[in-house]
Amino acid sequence: MSIQLADRINRLEESATLLMSKKSRELASQGIDVINLSLGEPDFTTPKHICDAAKNALDQGYTYYTPVAGYLDLRQAISAKLKRENDLDYSADQIVVSTGAKQSLSNTILALINPGDEVIIPTPYWVSYSEMVKMAEGKSVFIPASIDCNFKITPDQLEAAITPKSKLFMFSSPSNPTGAVYSKEELAALVKVFEKHPQIYILSDEIYEHINFGSKHASIASFESVKDRVIIINGFSKGFAMTGWRLGYMAAPKAIAAACDKLQGQVTSGTCSIAQRAALTALTTDMEPTYEMREAFRKRRDIVYNLLKEMNGVKANLPDGAFYFFPDVSSFFGKSYNGKVVKNADDLSIMLLTEAHVSTVSGESFGDPNSIRFSYAASETKLIEAMKRIAAFLNELK
Ligand SMILES: Cc1ncc(COP(=O)(O)O)c(C=O)c1O
Repeated sequence: MSIQLADRINRLEESATLLMSKKSRELASQGIDVINLSLGEPDFTTPKHICDAAKNALDQGYTYYTPVAGYLDLRQAISAKLKRENDLDYSADQIVVSTGAKQSLSNTILALINPGDEVIIPTPYWVSYSEMVKMAEGKSVFIPASIDCNFKITPDQLEAAITPKSKLFMFSSPSNPTGAVYSKEELAALVKVFEKHPQIYILSDEIYEHINFGSKHASIASFESVKDRVIIINGFSKGFAMTGWRLGYMAAPKAIAAACDKLQGQVTSGTCSIAQRAALTALTTDMEPTYEMREAFRKRRDIVYNLLKEMNGVKANLPDGAFYFFPDVSSFFGKSYNGKVVKNADDLSIMLLTEAHVSTVSGESFGDPNSIRFSYAASETKLIEAMKRIAAFLNELK
């Protein structure tokens, strides 16, 4: 008997980044030396003082259900962080702690989007955005931003994408997959457009806030004229190397935070008690490990960029944040390797894995068919070797 799944599941795509990682692990299990640059997580371990806080939490008996929105002292610490680092005022009841930033993103979308509502998403975008919109039966409206404009949209493009059905605009800065960072001035120009369209909410994904190599992080919530419709998403995965702890949060107008609290209360309840105690320590102690990690990423970025520049046919820009490159590789489409034609970015990404043993992700799933994404969250030695393998493979394409 065939299983009759809900349409909702049939509409969903599997996460391309997780899929490539799975393929890469399969090859590795056959004894092949694969360099995996497909996943988006720091290769650093969680700082020791944060791990110690988790161990202490267990000893102190933090093993019970937690409040749905998160422990009050953690939410107060997030509120203090938003003031200290971003000069933003959010009270504890405007903050909801969740199982990863991913849950805060889906909570927000499910809380705001009705079937048929339009969600404006600049491309390239993080793989899960459009899938979450599908789950809410909303309609994604994409604004293309290419490498020639450093993967950032203009106010005119934004204006042109807005219709009476537009309900939400969502973006990440620093961006996954491109590393693009919107400056305060660039955000100000977009804010001017939003001021004309008060029905549009703005979901600002700031999960890579601390991996920013340029000017100080700018949040669109710092513009008073739109702050009452901005939802900030942030978390601990990237800046504190805590991906496996599954801890994120949102800061939003009270009614939206309350809606997400209600939703989360019926789905997962409050997130892990131990992870929350560890996160409290992360926010209230020394940030030095985060800054050291950022510096290591900056150094790797520069090494990889110099190697990419030497590859004929690869068009790369210098990302200002996060830990990804998103080079345009379309000049290789139509070329062949051992009789196999590279038709598109999907083919190239698969061939890089099977022939060069470097795992990347095709740009298709990020809404950009000309590029591939790879992360530089790997050691310098691995990155240099990976670039050598990629260059050698691309040279073989005729
Ligand atoms: C742009 C972006 N937002 C959100 C997330 C989810 O983060 P978390 O691990 O906290 O769920 C990721 C993770 O890759 C991401 O790249």
